[in-house]
Amino acid sequence: MKTTELRDKYLEFFKSKEHAIIASASLIPENDPTVLFTTAGMHPLVPYLLGEKHPMGTRLTDVQKCVRTGDIDEVGDSSHCTFFEMLGNWSLGDYFKKESISWSYEFLTKVLEIPVEKLFVTVFEGDNDAPRDEESASIWQEAGIPKDHIFYLPKKDNWWGPAGVTGPCGPDTEIFYDTGKPKCSDHCDPSCSCGKYLEIWNNVFMEYFKHEDGSFTPLSQKNVDTGMGLDRTCAVLQGKESVFDTDAFTGILSCIASLCGKAYDSDEDTKRAFRIIADHMRASVFIIGDPKGVTPSNVDQGYILRRLLRRAIRYSKHLGIADGSLHIVAEKVINQYDDFYPELKTNHDKIIDEINKEEERFSKALTGGLKEFDKVISKLEGNTIDGKNAFRLYDTFGFPIEMTVELAGEKGIKVDVDGYKACFAEHQKKSGAGAVGKFKGGLADNTEATTRLHTATHLLLASLRKILGDTVFQRGSNITAERLRFDFSFERKLTKEELAQVEAMVNEVIEKDMTVSFEEMPIEKAREIGAMGIFDSKYGEMVKVYTVGNFSKEICGGPHVTHTGELGGFKIKKEESSSAGVRRIKAVLIDK
Ligand code: SER
Repeated sequence: MKTTELRDKYLEFFKSKEHAIIASASLIPENDPTVLFTTAGMHPLVPYLLGEKHPMGTRLTDVQKCVRTGDIDEVGDSSHCTFFEMLGNWSLGDYFKKESISWSYEFLTKVLEIPVEKLFVTVFEGDNDAPRDEESASIWQEAGIPKDHIFYLPKKDNWWGPAGVTGPCGPDTEIFYDTGKPKCSDHCDPSCSCGKYLEIWNNVFMEYFKHEDGSFTPLSQKNVDTGMGLDRTCAVLQGKESVFDTDAFTGILSCIASLCGKAYDSDEDTKRAFRIIADHMRASVFIIGDPKGVTPSNVDQGYILRRLLRRAIRYSKHLGIADGSLHIVAEKVINQYDDFYPELKTNHDKIIDEINKEEERFSKALTGGLKEFDKVISKLEGNTIDGKNAFRLYDTFGFPIEMTVELAGEKGIKVDVDGYKACFAEHQKKSGAGAVGKFKGGLADNTEATTRLHTATHLLLASLRKILGDTVFQRGSNITAERLRFDFSFERKLTKEELAQVEAMVNEVIEKDMTVSFEEMPIEKAREIGAMGIFDSKYGEMVKVYTVGNFSKEICGGPHVTHTGELGGFKIKKEESSSAGVRRIKAVLIDK
């Protein structure tokens, strides 16, 4: 079965079970500063899993574009990909285990016609947070899965979420396909990574909320969140070992072959380079071509994109592909996907242009940088490239640190990454560029900078309400190490005077060095005392209310600074429209 066919069949099947088909959301998460990209189908649906009403109803199905950046450097083997499409179906407080499991069984055995003896499932074995899931096991058995194909596993295997640090999550039941390979040992079961059992679908019974302190509380509604990797399942159905051997990659790989004049499977080294270029170009096309697409830069999503493109450029050079050719691969990707993802059509020129620009910027520097790298290695005393040299490769030749680490690793050499970060921070300080950009590909951490901006957001909301009135509510917020972005309800553009007043009010509170503290209380009490909050049902029974003197009161998980003086100074950079009835402010903190 081809990937396009599986996509259609999945949506059709769940439509027949009264699910509304919704379009893939953006790859860039809207209101979650803790992750850079949408990593799962449930991610954009978090507000609805937490109780907000979805306009399309309580049963939804879709194909969601996802990017996971945790293992960019693993891409090149047979299984890792950064971009993938996740098929999913959701119950928002509608059906639960019985329907979810029965439909999964029906889809796999009737629509995809997988023989029952090929299917194995796992269920949650239970712990202090949630009970053993005997209910799911018996539903599987009733459906037709033999008892000896059902395995109970612990939280590390059979629990999913949250997508960020906090959020909805729950026990899951995972479905595996038996490839027919021999067991690797007597203990070989679906939790084994030897490749005998391949996971094709995950049904999460999402009924808990995980808090910042690691505790779990029940959600107000029980949901189902399922996810099936499109390419991976196709590989299984097509009897292929690797997603790169499926029709999802046939055209892209042959395009690369025609550019370098080599065959994909000439040898392992060539194969790896092909896979890296294919995956990274596919991801880059989708990241730039997203409705909220980004362009290469040195921070956040833009930095991940730069890493992907520069790694693809490096490997295309390795294969002998002429400089400035990667847009041809991008063209192939766009062509393959733009029927289902029309945004790639709309943003076609932008995608090609950005890829060309990045290739132009980096191709020349790469040759010089590789020479410099060899020089550094030849002069090396010991086994580690120091931070200074790694920083020079970044600063002068545009080598992302991860690339230097990878190049060094190929020669069995290490890199002093902490030393590199110290040089980077020193340079930022000198150039007045502010906080250090992100080094992590996945979760953003609660750095000092984001914590301060988080507190600033509370001061901003309180000031807006005091100056513009009680119709102002928070509609969204996004914080990076450099700035805050805050969306709020208001009908018109703010005047210069209003903006100046808001800025002055926030600065006044900062100067007063007010205490920031929190108290845990039941949600009703928080509402009674007038604490601000966006999604009521997002919170468990008990909530944290952060107060800043008598100035601001907000339901929030934190963390925050302890005194407003720590913020230094507050500056509004921009005020603009975000959508109808919603304004957006971008602001920064400055040292005083
Ligand atoms: N959220 C689950 C996953 O990503 C199921 O959709 O696997």
